[in-house]
Amino acid sequence: MTDQATKDIEKETRAQGPRIVIIDDEHDMRASISQWLSLSGFQPESFASAEEALRVLGPEFDGAVISDIRMPGMDGMALLKRLAGMDATLPVILITGHGDVPMAVEAMRLGAFDFLEKPFDPERMTDLARRALKARALALEARALRHELADGKTLMRRLVGNAPEMVRLREDILDYGQADGHVLIDGETGTGKTLVAHALHAVGPRAGRRFVSLSCLCADDETLAARLFGPVSGGGLPLAEEARGGTLCLEDIEALSPAMQARLLAFLNDLGTPPATRIVAICNAHEPGRTLEDALRPDLYFRLAAMKITLPPLRARGEDILALFNDYAARFAEEYGCPAPELSAQDAAHLLQAPWPGNVRQLIAIAEQAVLQNRREGGSVVSLVMADNETAGGALTTEGKPLKEYVEAFERTLIDNTMRRHKGSITAVMEELCLPRRTLNEKMAKYGLSRADYV
Ligand SMILES: Nc1ncnc2c1ncn2[C@@H]1O[C@H](COP(=O)(O)OP(=O)(O)O)[C@@H](O)[C@H]1O
Ligand SMILES: [Mg+2]
Repeated sequence: MTDQATKDIEKETRAQGPRIVIIDDEHDMRASISQWLSLSGFQPESFASAEEALRVLGPEFDGAVISDIRMPGMDGMALLKRLAGMDATLPVILITGHGDVPMAVEAMRLGAFDFLEKPFDPERMTDLARRALKARALALEARALRHELADGKTLMRRLVGNAPEMVRLREDILDYGQADGHVLIDGETGTGKTLVAHALHAVGPRAGRRFVSLSCLCADDETLAARLFGPVSGGGLPLAEEARGGTLCLEDIEALSPAMQARLLAFLNDLGTPPATRIVAICNAHEPGRTLEDALRPDLYFRLAAMKITLPPLRARGEDILALFNDYAARFAEEYGCPAPELSAQDAAHLLQAPWPGNVRQLIAIAEQAVLQNRREGGSVVSLVMADNETAGGALTTEGKPLKEYVEAFERTLIDNTMRRHKGSITAVMEELCLPRRTLNEKMAKYGLSRADYV
């Protein structure tokens, strides 16, 4: 950046200025504080009474307040109380008369940022003002960040998809988010269970409270019980305490031992009605042939499953697969600063037909690889999907054997039989199986079949 540009930016920030509201019923006092602060680069606004100043002050105010204590009408202490009730992080510096020590002490107790004793040292005033503004900026920044993570609208926008199940899901999140009962979320890995748990918390009345999560898989019973209910080794609050009034998200609920199930049930019984804390239980894996109802004792299951959300697997979401791919490809393209890959009809067909054992998480990984590959050489998305599903395997299996193996075995048998019937006549086999010569040759080579064996 050039020196001139730096200066321009400095000038601009100064013109918008860090704001300081000055309140004093004495005109001369206001004028001199104001003059001193503007000379020091601040942007002062002065008011003759607290009532007037309150019109520009609110929880969004990004500056600091300097106010006299003794004023007709609302005095400095009353103003301080009023502002502290509105936003405890709004810094208020009070000006006390000489000898008002008890009042200054009381002001600090009520949450004043600091106080200045008359007659005051202007250097000390600018120093205080600067520190107060810094504190204010930090508080607003932290608040904005908390907001972003807890903002239900942002989370709902992040949920891509218009398949009927997804439309229904959004409605359920909004409804259940407002309700009091516990929620059970079920679905294959990578279908968005954790994301939905956060959304449930963020769209409802608990949004301002804590969202605390813990995996029931992470430890043995003793450790798990201690982390949830205490005592916590090394001190601190147990998670159930931390989550009070908010959401306690229990991941991998299917892994809970019978003993822990009993403890959790006792905890649920103590929560009262409506429960002071909402439990969102996430079921992350079923053993084949075993449902969550088998894994949990029925009384616990029915308490947790007061409301139930089952996320559909990605392969059942139709065109949402393409919408999700495009959405994430665009995000990664922006992140890596390169164009997003354009899907060919063939790519799209592959994406729609892939088994997606890893669901949305797997699709996100493919979108990222596609963007990177596109940046390097402009390769096809198809090969990525195929390669990934070969290694991911999972949902493709029947009786422990991958579908691909069945298909290949079938293909080999079919070619073998047809060659036998036609006594090695390549042309006849090509015709019967509708295969071009090259493909037939490739497949025979792949399966170790040789024409000479049939003649
Ligand atoms: N409908 C969706 N739209 C956009 N992103 C999604 C969607 N569902 C899941 N994701 C993303 O997919 C990834 C996996 O989701 P996650 O909630 O961790 O799945 P699970 O908990 O079911 O294993 C996360 O990055 C999540 O943000
Ligand atoms: Mg998860």
